[in-house]
Amino acid sequence: MIERDNPIANTGQNEEEVTSLDFTLRPKKLDEYVGQEDIKKNLGVSIQAAQKRDEPVEHILFYGPPGLGKTTLANIIAREMGVNIKTTSGPAIEKQGDLASILTNLQENDILFIDEIHRLKTQIEEMLYSAMEDYALDIIIGKGPAARSMRLSLPKFTLIGATTKAGSLSSPLRDRFGHIYKLDFYTDEEIRKIVSRSASLLDMKIDDDAALEIASCSRKTPRIANRILKRVRDFAEVESKKGIDLALCKKSLESMGIDKAGLDKTDRQILVTIIEKFNGGPVGLNTIAAMTTEPTETIEDLYEPYLLQIGFMERTKRGRMVTKNAYSHLKLTYIEDSNQNQSQLFN
Ligand SMILES: Nc1ncnc2c1ncn2[C@@H]1O[C@H](COP(=O)(O)OP(=O)(O)O)[C@@H](O)[C@H]1O
Ligand SMILES: [Mg+2]
Repeated sequence: MIERDNPIANTGQNEEEVTSLDFTLRPKKLDEYVGQEDIKKNLGVSIQAAQKRDEPVEHILFYGPPGLGKTTLANIIAREMGVNIKTTSGPAIEKQGDLASILTNLQENDILFIDEIHRLKTQIEEMLYSAMEDYALDIIIGKGPAARSMRLSLPKFTLIGATTKAGSLSSPLRDRFGHIYKLDFYTDEEIRKIVSRSASLLDMKIDDDAALEIASCSRKTPRIANRILKRVRDFAEVESKKGIDLALCKKSLESMGIDKAGLDKTDRQILVTIIEKFNGGPVGLNTIAAMTTEPTETIEDLYEPYLLQIGFMERTKRGRMVTKNAYSHLKLTYIEDSNQNQSQLFN
C-alpha cells in the first residue's frame, strides 16, 4: 500500500505537498541541473540551433523511472527558449476535441508537454501524428454520409513527451520524435550535490557527509533524495538542531525504515517473498504484486528498476529472480547448488 509519509512509495502525482516540494526545488536553468551530462550537452545544442533559426526545438521524448528529472527538463527547455509551456498528461486528454483545443491555443514555438504519454488513447495518439509532422490537424466535421474532413493548420510547436515506459509507446509515435533521451540513475556524488543545493534552497545547513549519507539511501533518484531531506529536516526541528549532521541522518533514515542500500520495507518484502515463497525465483510480476499487495504498476515502475539497477534482482525470460547479492544484503543463506539457483546463474 502506498503510505503517505513513505518517501519512496509516495509517487506524489496528486499530493499537493509533495508536488510543491518538487516545484520549489526544481532547477530552472540547464546549468543548475545536476548530472545527465550527455542529455544536457545535446539539449544545449538543440536549443541554441533552434534559437538561431527562430524555430521550435525538435520534438523530444524523455524516458526513465519516476523522479529522475523529466518534467524538470521540459520546463528548463521552455525557460531557456523563452517560450510558454503547456503541461498535460496522457490520461488527461480524453477526447479528440481536448487535444484540438490545446493545440490550437498554442503560440508559435511554444512547448506542449505530455506527461505519461504512453497512456494516450490510440485515437488521440493518431491525431498527434499530423500535428507533429505537418503542424496540422485533420478533423472530421459532421456525421454519416455528410461528414467531411477538414485540415486545420497549427502554429509550429515542440512536443515534449515523458514516459516511464518507452516500450509501451507505439513505433509511429516514437519515430516522430527528433530526439529520444533516456534518463539514467544518478551517482551518489551527483545526488549529494542535489541534496546540498536543496538544503540551501530550504535554508538549512547540512554537513557534506550527511548529504552523502542521504544520497546513498536515495535510490539514485533526486525526488527521493529531496523527500528524505525534508523528513530529516523535520527530525532536526523536533530535536531543535540548527544543522543536519551524519548522526541525525542515520537516526532519521533508520526510523523511516530505509536501510544502507536505500531499500524500504516494501523492497525488502518483495525480495524476501521471492526468496521464501519461490526459492529465489523465477516468478512473474503479477505474482509478486499479489503477494505484496502492491499494484503491478508500482512494482514495475518504482521498485523493480532500482532493484535491477543495484543488482539485487534479475529479469529473465521466465520471470524475476533474486540475486546472490540480495541474499547477502538481507543476511539470508544462498544455496549454491539448488536447481533454482543453478538456472539463476545461467540466465
Ligand atoms: N538533475 C537534477 N538536478 C537537480 N534536481 C533535480 C534533478 N532532477 C530532478 N531533480 C529534482 O527532483 C524532483 C523530481 O524531478 P521531476 O522532473 O519531477 O522528475 P520526473 O518528471 O522524471 O518524475 C524535481 O522537483 C527536482 O527538485
Ligand atoms: Mg514528471
